[in-house]
Amino acid sequence: MAKPHLLITRRVYPEAIEALSPHFEITDNQANDTPTTKEGLVAAIGQADYLFCTVADKIDADVIAAAPRLKMIATGAVGFNNIDVQACKARGIGLSNTPDVLTETTADFGWALLMATARRISESERYVRDGQWKGWAFDQFTGVDLHGTTLGILGMGRIGGAIARRASGFNMKVIYHNRSKAQQEYGAQYVDKAQLLSQSDHLMIVVPYSPATHHLVTAADLAQMKPTATLVNIARGGVVNDVDLLQALEKKQIRAAGLDVFENEPALNPGFLKLDNVVLTPHIASSSRATRGRMVMLAAENLLAHVQGQPLKTPVAI
Ligand code: DGY
Repeated sequence: MAKPHLLITRRVYPEAIEALSPHFEITDNQANDTPTTKEGLVAAIGQADYLFCTVADKIDADVIAAAPRLKMIATGAVGFNNIDVQACKARGIGLSNTPDVLTETTADFGWALLMATARRISESERYVRDGQWKGWAFDQFTGVDLHGTTLGILGMGRIGGAIARRASGFNMKVIYHNRSKAQQEYGAQYVDKAQLLSQSDHLMIVVPYSPATHHLVTAADLAQMKPTATLVNIARGGVVNDVDLLQALEKKQIRAAGLDVFENEPALNPGFLKLDNVVLTPHIASSSRATRGRMVMLAAENLLAHVQGQPLKTPVAI
């Protein structure tokens, strides 16, 4: 019997190809790991029974319509805002994501970005590399403290909880705001959004992106924050209005930002590049080799489950 056809949009690890190839006829991007375009996806997906995609592939209604045989999509990410879930539902196309396996690595990175931002690590490293360092001084790259301050978390899901847990080592007060009042975990205290904004010394954004969280943080919200505050976004660019954030940083309405995600990534507002009080990273919060390996293998296991008539391991409820 002919094997079902699997389209893999980007290069994945060899262990996944090894697990999948006995069960699927694979078309992949192993040799040439370039970002997909809509036209490329539409052209490539026509014969696919299965799709293994990434957070960077936009799987919209047109792409799904171009895949008349498509039975299931496995995305190698926890977030699935890049996929038209309603179009999948209308066609009975299954969808899986990769929750849990990236929680701790992403929380580690949230802290790394927060510390780099609060303590001006990128800016001071540029200064050293540029040969500008002429000697020690009291007032050199003075940052703000983390220990003993208030950490605000917007979105208290798995990753928010893992970030809160790490705060106890810094003796921080943790407050959070969430759509639903999450279980009081790690001593974190639920507050309303206005309190979160006005009381946080450091605000960490981890809320999933959806139409309901689009531009959840705008100019009016940023205006409520402390002028000494740090904002870190490891969720999705669209949660924060990038234009408003840029203006708030330029006006020093808040002190600094650490951004791993952007509204139109990989394009970013060029204004961010001109500012020293911003630390910029290319959507790498989950990027340790071990965790990226687990994400890829979980996506593969979901594909294998479906093709073998088993329930998906980590289905997205659609
Ligand atoms: C996710 O999984 O949604 C991240 O943004 C990519 O690692």
